[in-house]
Amino acid sequence: MTDKSQNHGKQLVYLATAVSAMGGMLFGYDIGVISGAILFIKKDFSLSPILEEIVVSAVLLGSLAGAAIGGTLTDRFGRRKLLIVTAIIFAVGAIGAALAPGTTWLIAARIIAGVAIGIASFVAPLYISEIAPVDIRGKLVSINQVALTSGIVISYLIDYAFAGAEAWRWMFAMALVPAAIFGIGLIFIPDSPRWLAAHGQLDKARSVLGKIRKPEDVESELSRIQKNAAQQKGHWSELLSPVLRMAMIVGIGLAIAQQVTGINTVIYYAPTIFKFAGFSSSSVAILASVGVGAINVIFTLVAMGLMDRVGRRPLLLVSLAGMALSLAVLGLAFALPQMSGILGWVAVGSLMAYVGSFAVGLGPVFWLILSEIYPLAIRGRAMSIGTMVNWGGNLIVAVSFLTLTHVIGKAGTFWMFGAVSVGAWCFAYFLVPETKGKTLEEIETHWRAGKRPRAL
Ligand code: BGC
Repeated sequence: MTDKSQNHGKQLVYLATAVSAMGGMLFGYDIGVISGAILFIKKDFSLSPILEEIVVSAVLLGSLAGAAIGGTLTDRFGRRKLLIVTAIIFAVGAIGAALAPGTTWLIAARIIAGVAIGIASFVAPLYISEIAPVDIRGKLVSINQVALTSGIVISYLIDYAFAGAEAWRWMFAMALVPAAIFGIGLIFIPDSPRWLAAHGQLDKARSVLGKIRKPEDVESELSRIQKNAAQQKGHWSELLSPVLRMAMIVGIGLAIAQQVTGINTVIYYAPTIFKFAGFSSSSVAILASVGVGAINVIFTLVAMGLMDRVGRRPLLLVSLAGMALSLAVLGLAFALPQMSGILGWVAVGSLMAYVGSFAVGLGPVFWLILSEIYPLAIRGRAMSIGTMVNWGGNLIVAVSFLTLTHVIGKAGTFWMFGAVSVGAWCFAYFLVPETKGKTLEEIETHWRAGKRPRAL
């Protein structure tokens, strides 16, 4: 292969990553957009507090459903085809919400958008992981999380832009732009060579690998994929087999850790938390959300740069330690009487440190490891279980946060998340494998040999 065509191979991998990361962007946009839109919907549709909560959390219910069905669908029909259907569902959800004549319609449209988010949340990282060369897989899969965090910030900015005109319908409609780029882009990128090989389409798999790898590497990679695929039948029951038990524990444990350490209380309620801390003006509250979102993007970019150099485990451990520490300080700031002046700023600082710590590790590492540790024949379904647990945790934390702050207090709530972070650190230290530099097939062989996660 000439230098030119090798370059072309890399460019195609980057293009495919960028297109599928639009799924991450839509994930972020669709969860972020509601924070601004709800203010006006509440007025237009005269929502009761209960209905308001349902409108806000409908997307999470849909995501849970999307995560549940996406696994079987992607193992059966492939990654790229399912993502194309997902792009259409995103568009239907956006148009539906933008045109909603009433509350029921709006809730239905948000559930539909949620289904697309639930599917894209894990199929996009899965696809990227399967086309990525081993030495940059961490970076490429993390691009999806960069797109996700950017999607959140973009949604805040769009909300802000349309807020003057109270044009909440346009806030939803704007999701059509990334949905179109996603859907059209997917037509031009290749299928996952791994999924093709696992489904006996060897010639197609070889042809895709020929476009994205050096010629001398194509046959060896293909035969490694085939060898591993032949060892699995691809039944659901294999998820319960002793061989996969550890991989399931790692995926589910990290899914719980990612949500029950509280990140989405900040993503969904940043302005409320800032008000708790004594900043009462709305412009400060908006700035707070954008600030939190920007820190999330910046530190995810840092993680992206480090993922294949320092590895997943160090980033994860530093991240969880940083989260535990900043939550301890945040709790303290709320525990001391008269949250004002300097203590208010301590709260802001620790909140930012908390978000930065999440972004540099736990945020991207969860989705990355989930896309790496399962055997090819059952990868989609195994990932869908971790993803369902993740969305379930997201929903529980989102609906219980405000009640928790009333029942055990604000300090108590943040300390509780801090304690979970300490538990998650121990879990990660003892059980999460280092997948840097290993091919997906090497990881699969490792489990099959019955070895411990840390021995990888
Ligand atoms: C999590 C989401 C969260 C987002 C924030 C993702 O990795 O899965 O629940 O809202 O990060 O950046």
